[in-house]
Amino acid sequence: MNRIEPKIALVTGASSGIGQATAERLANAGYNVFGTSRRGTQAGKHPFEMLSLDVTSDASVEAAVSEVIRREGRIDLLVNNAGFGVAPAGAEESSMDQARAIFDTNFFGLIRMTRTVVPHMRRQGSGRIINIGSVLGFLPMPYGALYAATKHAVAGYSESLDHELRTRGIRVSVIEPAYTKTPFDANFLEPDAKLDEYREARAGVTKRVNEVMATAEHPAVVAEAVLKAASAMRPQVRYAAGSLAKRLRFLRRFAPAGLVDAGIRKDLRLDVRAGSQPARTARAF
Ligand SMILES: NC(=O)c1ccc[n+]([C@@H]2O[C@H](COP(=O)([O-])OP(=O)(O)OC[C@H]3O[C@@H](n4cnc5c(N)ncnc54)[C@H](OP(=O)(O)O)[C@@H]3O)[C@@H](O)[C@H]2O)c1
Repeated sequence: MNRIEPKIALVTGASSGIGQATAERLANAGYNVFGTSRRGTQAGKHPFEMLSLDVTSDASVEAAVSEVIRREGRIDLLVNNAGFGVAPAGAEESSMDQARAIFDTNFFGLIRMTRTVVPHMRRQGSGRIINIGSVLGFLPMPYGALYAATKHAVAGYSESLDHELRTRGIRVSVIEPAYTKTPFDANFLEPDAKLDEYREARAGVTKRVNEVMATAEHPAVVAEAVLKAASAMRPQVRYAAGSLAKRLRFLRRFAPAGLVDAGIRKDLRLDVRAGSQPARTARAF
């Protein structure tokens, strides 16, 4: 990668939030950036080129990647960012169709992009793939089980792929932010199989998520982590992005599992029901 020409970056889901901040940061750092949105250029004016892309469609992925190759002849950096969440709900409150839908974007979308871009990077003998995971790739999220499952899948895929591609000049990293202030929660899908059983728990976790989202870190923090991973001579496989994410990463690695388990239950008030006391695990944290 000792070329004078700007490096070519492709950032999925660059119409808002983390993807937009990342595309802007990379453009400022000198990359020639192609962002994407399902609405294409209708997604508004941005200081980078916007392509139309739906990561759930093989044809759309093929078309977007071909367009970058046609125009630039190479892709140096792929940032797989496109993704969404389901509003807090019990795991059984999403139908199988909804479970498939979230995996189709958050996980299979990332695989579609990777499978389409990697042959070009192999031909070049170089490239970086940066996947936007989450702290929910190494922590559980009660009432966010499907989303956490997609991010655990992203982490496992990224770490494995990095081992496969390293000797071919390609490195893969996963960036793991905690709560980040973006339209992410405004774009939540509503659970499509609600049960009265979970009404109280749903309301409690939603309240807690709203509280933390209000004081969450700016997406520029995640964009900075992407740039760091993209430009490191020897990139790490995983980067925690932001102070809360770093704290959680530290706890997961060094704190006893029981303490982390109790901390999650306490933070989300899972053992506090009308008139009842917190369970012993929660008080132990
Ligand atoms: N915000 C957080 O607290 C947080 C924390 C950790 C990780 N993350 C992760 O960060 C990533 C970005 O989320 P965000 O917070 O920036 O939310 P956001 O503002 O809602 O951005 C989501 C982006 O994904 C795109 N997108 C959604 N479905 C798509 C599809 N099928 N094909 C192509 N693009 C699609 C959207 O573009 P269009 O609608 O214009 O197509 C949008 O640009 C996600 O992977 C999310 O899981 C977020």
